[in-house]
Amino acid sequence: MGTNVLNLSSYKFYSNGEWKESLSGETINIMSPYLSEVIGKVQAITKEEVDEAIYSAHEAQKLWAEFSLQQRASYLYKWADELVSRQEEIAEMIMKEVGKSFKDAKSEVTRTADFIRYTIEEALHMHGESMRGESFPGGSKNKIAIVDRVPLGVVLAISPFNYPVNLAAAKIAPALMAGNAVIFKPATQGAISGTKMIEALDETGLPNGLVNLVTGKGSVIGDYLVEHKGINMISFTGGTQTGVRLAKKSAMVPLVLELGGKDPGIVCEDADLKEAAKQIISGAFSYSGQRCTAIKRVLVNENVADELVGLLKEEVERLTVGSPEDGCTIVPLIDKKSADFIQILIADALGHGAEVVIGNKRERNLIHPTLLDYVTGEMRVAWEEPFGPVLPIIRVSSDEEAIKLANESEYGLQASIFTKDVNKAFAIANKMEAGSVQINGRTERGPDHFPFIGIKGSGIGVQGIRKSIESMTREKVTVLNLTE
Ligand code: NAP
Ligand code: G3P
Repeated sequence: MGTNVLNLSSYKFYSNGEWKESLSGETINIMSPYLSEVIGKVQAITKEEVDEAIYSAHEAQKLWAEFSLQQRASYLYKWADELVSRQEEIAEMIMKEVGKSFKDAKSEVTRTADFIRYTIEEALHMHGESMRGESFPGGSKNKIAIVDRVPLGVVLAISPFNYPVNLAAAKIAPALMAGNAVIFKPATQGAISGTKMIEALDETGLPNGLVNLVTGKGSVIGDYLVEHKGINMISFTGGTQTGVRLAKKSAMVPLVLELGGKDPGIVCEDADLKEAAKQIISGAFSYSGQRCTAIKRVLVNENVADELVGLLKEEVERLTVGSPEDGCTIVPLIDKKSADFIQILIADALGHGAEVVIGNKRERNLIHPTLLDYVTGEMRVAWEEPFGPVLPIIRVSSDEEAIKLANESEYGLQASIFTKDVNKAFAIANKMEAGSVQINGRTERGPDHFPFIGIKGSGIGVQGIRKSIESMTREKVTVLNLTE
């Protein structure tokens, strides 16, 4: 227990059940993307402190593995309740720290509590299997295999800035219910929100050392964590570049990587254009497009393109632009670097002949929602992940051309197909190189019990509640050799 705040705005890291100041004496300032002021500091911990956290995790995991599912559940139910009781406080910090509207920040906390409770229920209903030797030719009927799932040990959970609470708990809850201990490394821009989530977990009286919060820049402690011999599984959500680096660094450790995306919205000639426009703009611009599942390009049949572009423009004009405190959808981006990158993509597209339908206006980190028409494959915005409020429109002559362009992307997270013809929808969906295909709906991760998969540059492995629990366990076979 004990306090985790040194003074009004400096947060401790959490190791072996204690809130600690780093012996490095170094802290990292956390700047609010829209207040443009320091809202707090987190510890820049040392490699030795990483070692200690991993050591205490291993000790705690040995005990936790003996806990029954019901015992584990009791802590996690308390955690979910604690999060809900602190919803306002945590949501306020999410808003200040990552610039998400207060409404979206609150729903992130509620979604997380629901996720934790569903994870508990799912784990309570996951059973192993038994197999009889006699079903294989020559196999003995006296041989019975009991196939159970056992924890992997210590899970390294690394989360991105855009869901500092939900995408962290989406790793920690399954890891704990599966019997593992956790080393949690939050995104630095999101570390205070992550700390507040762990405060709620600390309140449950969870055994010391079972969950450890390690703060510090990924560029400083990231490789050390990933290559650490004490790590038995890595669940990472973040950018593709970081993910690929991590995959190269991590040797012989099970990995689940949820990475970037360039999700297409394919609009067929027979689509309900009004509905498609609504879904596309909601999918592309919620939280300023800072979602891996955001629709990041429109591939529209040229025969209906003009009409669709008109409808998209109307939808964009309805978007609220401004401060997250006013509940706006288009809010300042996470940092200046991200806003600069969007401007570079827009300039490159305009330089190659694209046309601005609306937008291309900037105030510091705030980029107004931008629609670019007549985008072609020679423009970077056709391929790169902007992670911001710019949507390229690519006109195609056929569904086949749309499929070809969609699959030429290095990414493969999700895709949306808009058509009234369900047979055509499935025909196109079957050809899509993507983890999930949404028919007549926007691209999105939820509901959270659905498998969530990134292929190609979008990831390795599967998330989604049951799949996440499975990914943090391995089968263990115990063979009973009965005598005659
Ligand atoms: P990021 O820059 O890749 O950072 C993600 C996490 O990795 C952060 O905690 C970061 O720490 C850490 N990290 C950085 N360098 C590391 C290293 N060498 N070893 C280990 N960890 C390291 O991504 P982001 O900017 O936070 O998030 C945006 C990206 O994530 C986008 O590309 C988006 O598409 C993707 N994303 C994907 C999903 C999905 O489910 N597929 C969900 C959300 C976001 P620091 O913050 O300290 O650098
Ligand atoms: O980028 C976060 C990702 O996991 C998307 O979640 O629910 O916004 O589609 P969602």
